[in-house]
Amino acid sequence: MRDLPRTKHPNLLVGIETSDDAGVYKLNDDLALVQTIDFFTPIVDDPYHFGRIAAANALSDVYAMGGKPLTAMNIVCFPIKQMSKDILKDILRGGLDKVNEAGAVLVGGHSVDDQELKYGLSVTGIVRPDGILTNGGAKVGDQLILTKPVGTGIIATAVKGKLASQEALDELITVASTLNDRASQVMVEYEPHACTDITGFGLGGHLLEMARASEVEISLCAGKIPIMSSARDYALMGLIPAGSYATKNFCEHVVEISPEVESVQLDLIFDPQTSGGLVMSISPDRAETCLERLKGAGILSAAIIGEVTGSHSSGRINIVP
Ligand code: CO
Ligand code: CO
Ligand code: CO
Repeated sequence: MRDLPRTKHPNLLVGIETSDDAGVYKLNDDLALVQTIDFFTPIVDDPYHFGRIAAANALSDVYAMGGKPLTAMNIVCFPIKQMSKDILKDILRGGLDKVNEAGAVLVGGHSVDDQELKYGLSVTGIVRPDGILTNGGAKVGDQLILTKPVGTGIIATAVKGKLASQEALDELITVASTLNDRASQVMVEYEPHACTDITGFGLGGHLLEMARASEVEISLCAGKIPIMSSARDYALMGLIPAGSYATKNFCEHVVEISPEVESVQLDLIFDPQTSGGLVMSISPDRAETCLERLKGAGILSAAIIGEVTGSHSSGRINIVP
């Protein structure tokens, strides 16, 4: 889209320029639409769980903007001649269950015959125009809270290689299919300055987007990042998704890495996540209470993982042990 003319409209509150989670369009002074779409190939073999994960992932971008999802539409690519229709039915059932759990309504969708299975949803939500949370707006002194452990990409790679234990697979399914709804509801009460969800660019990549959009320098404490149980072991075995290297190379010039940070920690920081947690930048006097409330709401992995240490015109991240 970089080479195409920019869309400008007085009601367009968040467009594509800042790599934000969703587009936001103002309907009136009290109400704005939040719109997003996401779809991908399966990360687990079980079609029902794949459907749940894909839906939780698509809904997450609305939660990351501080919004409430209202409607959703399926988008499906399916090899109808090669695969049983029951598989498709299970995927759609998983997606529908998650949409219902989110309190949203499935209103339709579109499918095409395709050699490679892909599934996801387009989600529309609402937000108050004065309550929109973007990845810009982080302030010097803010604490950063992450609400889910990282490692889904590494575990999904182990699953693909038939090396994942049943426990690791169960944890992947549990973490990736958890909605970010409660995290978002607790978060908005503490009026964070910025928020995004962690997906394909990994924790490091999405924090860099936040640093750039907010024009700040972020210090990320590698040792404080919550990690899925077996992700570290699989990473040490070299089960690193290809996307991880791409993001690491992309971020290299603007990320300062302390020599004490282990290389396996970097593999986890740049691991592409599917349906990852929210990361919010929140005023230091509210961070501890917000964290306690998140834990009280059952978001047990939530942790303070770093802080905003200064201004920086083009955005910067320091990774420290
Ligand atoms: Co997002
Ligand atoms: Co997205
Ligand atoms: Co159609």
